[in-house]
Amino acid sequence: MISFGKQEKSFLISGKHYSYCMYVNAAGLLQHLYYGKKLAPADAAYLVAAQGNNVMPEAGDPNYEMATDRMPAELGSFGRGDFRTATVIATREDGASMSRFRYRSHQIVKGALPLAGMPCARKADETLILTLKDDFSDAEIDLRYSVSEGSDVLVRSLAVRNAGKGKLSLRRAFSFCTELPDVCGTYSALRLAGEWGQECTPCVTPLGEGILRVGSLRGYSSHEMNPFLGILTEGCGERTGECYGFALLYSGSYALEAERANGGTVRVQGGIEDTLFCWTLGAGETFETPQAALCFSAEGLGGMSRAYHDFFREAIIPPKNVYAHRPVVINNWEATYFDFDNEKLFAIIDEAAKLGIDTFVLDDGWFGSRNNDRAGLGDWVVNEKKLAGGLKAVINRCKQRGLKFGLWFEPEMVNEDSDLYRAHPDWAICKAGVEPCRSRNQLVLDFSRKEVVDHIFESVSKVLRENEISYVKWDKNRCITENFTASLPAERQGEFLHRYTLGFYDLAKRLTEAFPHVFFEGCAGGGGRFDGGALYYFPQIWTSDDTDALERTKIQWGTSVVYPVSSMSCHVSICPNHQTGRTTPLQTRGAVASLGATGYELDLTKLSAEEKAEIAAQVARYRKMDGLVLQGDLYRLADPFRGNYFCEMLVSKDKRKAYIVGERFRGVPNEHDRVLRLFGLDEEKLYHIRELSLTASGKALMGAGVFYPRLSDCGSWVWHIEEVKR
Ligand code: DGJ
Repeated sequence: MISFGKQEKSFLISGKHYSYCMYVNAAGLLQHLYYGKKLAPADAAYLVAAQGNNVMPEAGDPNYEMATDRMPAELGSFGRGDFRTATVIATREDGASMSRFRYRSHQIVKGALPLAGMPCARKADETLILTLKDDFSDAEIDLRYSVSEGSDVLVRSLAVRNAGKGKLSLRRAFSFCTELPDVCGTYSALRLAGEWGQECTPCVTPLGEGILRVGSLRGYSSHEMNPFLGILTEGCGERTGECYGFALLYSGSYALEAERANGGTVRVQGGIEDTLFCWTLGAGETFETPQAALCFSAEGLGGMSRAYHDFFREAIIPPKNVYAHRPVVINNWEATYFDFDNEKLFAIIDEAAKLGIDTFVLDDGWFGSRNNDRAGLGDWVVNEKKLAGGLKAVINRCKQRGLKFGLWFEPEMVNEDSDLYRAHPDWAICKAGVEPCRSRNQLVLDFSRKEVVDHIFESVSKVLRENEISYVKWDKNRCITENFTASLPAERQGEFLHRYTLGFYDLAKRLTEAFPHVFFEGCAGGGGRFDGGALYYFPQIWTSDDTDALERTKIQWGTSVVYPVSSMSCHVSICPNHQTGRTTPLQTRGAVASLGATGYELDLTKLSAEEKAEIAAQVARYRKMDGLVLQGDLYRLADPFRGNYFCEMLVSKDKRKAYIVGERFRGVPNEHDRVLRLFGLDEEKLYHIRELSLTASGKALMGAGVFYPRLSDCGSWVWHIEEVKR
């Protein structure tokens, strides 16, 4: 709900459990007042009276603008007294960049606001659009706030309009700015950091003076730093305390900043990375930023995660896929790598069919001259030397065995040893005269150019049109380096990286629309592009190339801080594990992978009869509980970064069913009993834990808890919990 207080020119936005408030102060500047627990519309007047006029002197005071440095702002201005980082910097033709954006008008419209060519929340109840006008240029800014009564996520973005006749150069255009008050305590910052094979490690550090900045310069959101920043108030933990989340719905280079200045208040803002960014706005043109999803939780990090999960499921992930059963796949990558032929694949397909697996996914190596990672990328034509009878032969085998067929692509990439590169060497991102920087022996195609995206759309479409394909794995295995496009003049090179990202979104949109029956899974060497932008097209994303059942608990735990478990593609692979060399029980691998969109990635033909029986049982069990993965609420119980255990719990919305998976990393001697307190159940309901033959009230299970099972190295437990009648 959005309410406007006419008298004091305040705006109070309220979602499920939070409110957000600002007002137009005497100088016409948009001053931030509050972001926290839910208030009533009438409280806005109090906020204005108590806090609004404290910071700013009267508008008539000739020195009043120097006070903007202390004013909590909805938009950081530049060059007029606010010395914190600006939200938008628009440089005019004469080179001047100072700005003073003041309120001009506002409107409240029904529903969400679509963004041209970019992912955006599909739903909202209402959107507030606040229009500000710069006193010194023809720049106008619309600040947008989309709110849903049933959600704790507030969606923000902005649009900069050039209402004049000259050119404007946008040197920064972040998506949002907000301010957290000085609460006489320490805020902490939560980052999801990592690297390949170790994505999304939660790191909490105190937020000191100055600027804390997270981001990516890699051209995509990256393994190294997920496009999310959490700010925790003192004492905030998994189950209790207040925290804020700032997640960008964007897949390109980005920046998120928390700036603690002037002794206490914290300005949080972010959006498109601004190191090289510079966008030319011609007369009458508008630039729209990506959206950011802001979340406030008074129920700790767990509450924030559950709010984000609901938001991504309800407003971002394609509605036709989000709650539908996911394919349980067998993927051949770790079984064969590039070394396969019909015979090998058919044997895997035949085994998969016996185990209840429903889709066979043919990974890298089926096309062009792709027998290793040095050649073939870009040539999306089946290699019939390797696969006699082409894809059709493999698809027929799948059909005969009752399996569907999925296929791997890496649409944004090219090898120099490929027909595509030989025909269009200029389509790869490079700078004439400069040796290109190679990674995995490949270059990135220049998706800022429409003709390149058009070509890839055609070549991928041809394969999808001519074959019965129900699933696509869309990979991306390197970052962008040269940051240069031959298609733009020198003064517009700063547009390149964002235009690349728009090209990626354009292809994703066109392919998903042209092939609505195909299920698209995202991937970037694992979780290199696991973000709210990618989830708009891909209902699930390959979470990490690391499938080790111990490491995976950490990666899935960290990823779940923002993203729902159903968006995490999780596979059981062979042991010793290819990434860590560790051997873990097959039961544990299956249990951990069941906390996501489960699948398999190993040579089924090499398994014993017992192992195959175990996999068949896992698939059957998963099919009975995957409703909880798709729709349930996640409660993280035991943090794998802190102790010897991992445990997570999924609870149905009606609290009648729950599913628990736990793992103990190391067996320890002389261990005393440790208590695992469950969470998220209904205190008043009576529950039965099938595997323990235990019946107890929700109150007892959450208050007294259950003992952790004593298990040896990487042993696991799986408990099914159901309400029973008293
Ligand atoms: C990286 C992916 O994460 C893997 O799963 C696999 O698809 C390889 N690329 C193939 O090259």
